[in-house]
Amino acid sequence: MRQRRWYGIGLLVAVVALVLGAGALPAQAKSTNKTVTFGQLTNKNTHRLAAIRQAARQQILKQTHAKGSRVNAVYKVKLPTHMTKKATLTPQGLRMNLLANTFKVKQITIPYTQLKGKVGNRYLPKANRTTAIKTTKMVALTFDDGPDKTLTPRLLKTLKKYKVHATFFETGQNVSRYPKISRAVVAGGNEIGNHSWNHPNFNSIGTAKTVSQVTRTNRAIYQATGSLPQYVRPPYGNITAAEGRAIEQPVIRWSVDSRDWAYLNKNKDINEVMKDTRGGDIVLMHDIHAQSVAAVPTIIKRLKAKGYKLVTVSQLLNSQALPGLQYFGAHDYRTVGK
Ligand code: NI
Repeated sequence: MRQRRWYGIGLLVAVVALVLGAGALPAQAKSTNKTVTFGQLTNKNTHRLAAIRQAARQQILKQTHAKGSRVNAVYKVKLPTHMTKKATLTPQGLRMNLLANTFKVKQITIPYTQLKGKVGNRYLPKANRTTAIKTTKMVALTFDDGPDKTLTPRLLKTLKKYKVHATFFETGQNVSRYPKISRAVVAGGNEIGNHSWNHPNFNSIGTAKTVSQVTRTNRAIYQATGSLPQYVRPPYGNITAAEGRAIEQPVIRWSVDSRDWAYLNKNKDINEVMKDTRGGDIVLMHDIHAQSVAAVPTIIKRLKAKGYKLVTVSQLLNSQALPGLQYFGAHDYRTVGK
């Protein structure tokens, strides 16, 4: 928005200059476009290039006002895989030319907000650059397997009451059942990630079925919220290296396991989370168990009392999570399958 405004002012200046006949002033708009290679943009990092492809898919859907039924097709659009290919930095965003595709889109412009943490800071406007953050007092609560018809709305009320945000890894099956609840999750300032369609073990179903589980769930989340989810959390944390490369989304694991599904006991859940949680942690819970949801108010109060700020996964990872990598906490990540 800010960029557009400056572009507008730039154009105005150029027009006024022309009208006044001040020929010495160069055409502002022209000089602000710059051609770059993906190698430059990503510092030849293939994970970053995959992140640009992910942002491109979102932009194709957005730019064409595509229905959810088109999500599968967007994964078939040929997107750059070579570092020597070029794009253009414009005041509105990163402009890319596309090869012939079923969306009939020749060109997309990815807003810089979508590229924060994915391409080098020097190519981004100041407002979209990442700056170092301190995570020693940050914790990300995450809730898997929902949305649940009654428990998820109850949890959202709690988060709202304490003015904190969390990340929800939802199954496509449940999102398609309760799309309104998924919308409410996002409307509350929380984040939604992909937790497969119906919770299989990716390690034993193979790459093709894993990709289909992930894509089908992306479609349900897009249908419910209007956006593709950024992250995937594989059921049981299991995913192979080949599957990690194929899904082209960052994998989010956890560093604190509440084991709430095994306890089904509010006080045990509270103790388990409080015993292990430190700054930079990602805490795993489930919003399909009443005891877990009942434990959250006390967990929030106690973490806050220790000075922790409760944030989304994107905030904790400073928007820098990349496809092909899996993240266990703020400073712990490795290649998927390793
Ligand atoms: Ni699960």
